[in-house]
Amino acid sequence: MYTKVTILVWQEEQNVIYESNEGENRPLAWAQTRNMPLTHRVILESLRMASIISFTFREAVVDVEYGGYLIPKGWKVMPLFRNIHHNPEFFPDPKHFDPSRFEVAPKPNTFVPFGNGVHACPGNELAKLEMIILVHHLVTKFRWEVVGSQSGIEYCPFPVPQQGLPAKFWKLPAPKNCASNGSRLPKEKSDSRLHLTN
Ligand code: HEM
Repeated sequence: MYTKVTILVWQEEQNVIYESNEGENRPLAWAQTRNMPLTHRVILESLRMASIISFTFREAVVDVEYGGYLIPKGWKVMPLFRNIHHNPEFFPDPKHFDPSRFEVAPKPNTFVPFGNGVHACPGNELAKLEMIILVHHLVTKFRWEVVGSQSGIEYCPFPVPQQGLPAKFWKLPAPKNCASNGSRLPKEKSDSRLHLTN
């Protein structure tokens, strides 16, 4: 189950790194980005639930028979990632956001947010690194609150948050010392408020 406890443990993974870097005194290091197992699973699960790319396509260069169907030469096949990633055979209870499912590697070809084969996304690792860096700064320096609908996704056809996911952000005060005591949580949310809307 994905619970508040899991979220706190995930935040703690980031806070430990932030504090070992003495807040912002030292930048996030490459080795640290390679050692964020919980964050990595959160990112994989997010890509499974609703990646920015919903499908790819391939053209049959010869007649192909697959699963009793003939795909004639010149026809295009369009695998929909959402169907693959939401297949309960591969991902039980697929609508449930559960990063722990990635504690075990998915079966081959069942998790393909970056496509597969010779035309698989060459930006795969860069994209994941950017997400890790964003998450690190977001989780360690900000708190936020979604305004309005908490979970809406619109498909048009790419998944986008309903109404652009308006949210309010609060910057946490910089740590005075780096002892981990959770005291950086803002007492008054109205301080340093960033209000981001669509
Ligand atoms: C979350 C971010 C990203 C996702 C979900 C994503 C997903 C994809 C997918 C599904 C494909 C098609 C793969 C296939 O047909 O098998 C693709 C292709 C491609 N992506 Fe990405 N991508 C992302 C970020 C990036 C970044 C950051 C770059 C470059 C800096 C990039 C560059 C490319 C290129 C050049 C192709 C075409 C590859 C080819 O046709 O040979 N992508 N991407």
